[in-house]
Amino acid sequence: MQITESDAIESDLKNILLIESQNKVALWSLKNFQESLTAKDYFKVVRFNDETVAFIIAKVMNHECEILNLGVEISMRKKKLASKLLNNLINFSKARNIKQIFLEVRVSNTAAVNLYDKFKFNEIGCRPNYYITENGREDALIMGVDL
Ligand SMILES: CC(C)(COP(=O)(O)OP(=O)(O)OC[C@H]1O[C@@H](n2cnc3c(N)ncnc32)[C@H](O)[C@@H]1OP(=O)(O)O)[C@@H](O)C(=O)NCCC(=O)NCCS
Repeated sequence: MQITESDAIESDLKNILLIESQNKVALWSLKNFQESLTAKDYFKVVRFNDETVAFIIAKVMNHECEILNLGVEISMRKKKLASKLLNNLINFSKARNIKQIFLEVRVSNTAAVNLYDKFKFNEIGCRPNYYITENGREDALIMGVDL
């Protein structure tokens, strides 16, 4: 078994789209992922035996970094892959003198909220009724960590 983290390339996008489609709400299209590659966003993948099984995308600004998307293939969850991706993003950000990392997450997304809690992210805001879901609308939590 070989697990590696690398920069994302075009050929990762097929599996990334599959991972995205496993979510209850699939928000990103192929075009969105391609735009992140073109924009040279922080875009890393984890490959397991050459299969792309997890990814993280973040927008690095002057002294801030926003996590735009993060996903792990269903059968590979709870194996610390998201923790690995997040930990490396934090180290990358510290090395670039970034002061804060933030993101938006659905309030009902317990797995993601717990993950960010574990990495000392705090709730720094809320966007009421931000997400459209099958059952109506749902708030977005804005979570952030100061580095
Ligand atoms: C959220 C997600 C990225 C977590 O990935 P993962 O690789 O399974 O997470 P890790 O194994 O690194 O877990 C780290 C911590 O996150 C929390 N966590 C992860 N999955 C969880 C779950 N199903 N329920 C509750 N907490 C969970 C736990 O605190 C866990 O620590 P522990 O294992 O010591 O309990 C993954 O569930 C996923 O892809 N979800 C769908 C996409 C998504 O929600 N992305 C985030 C958008 S903001």
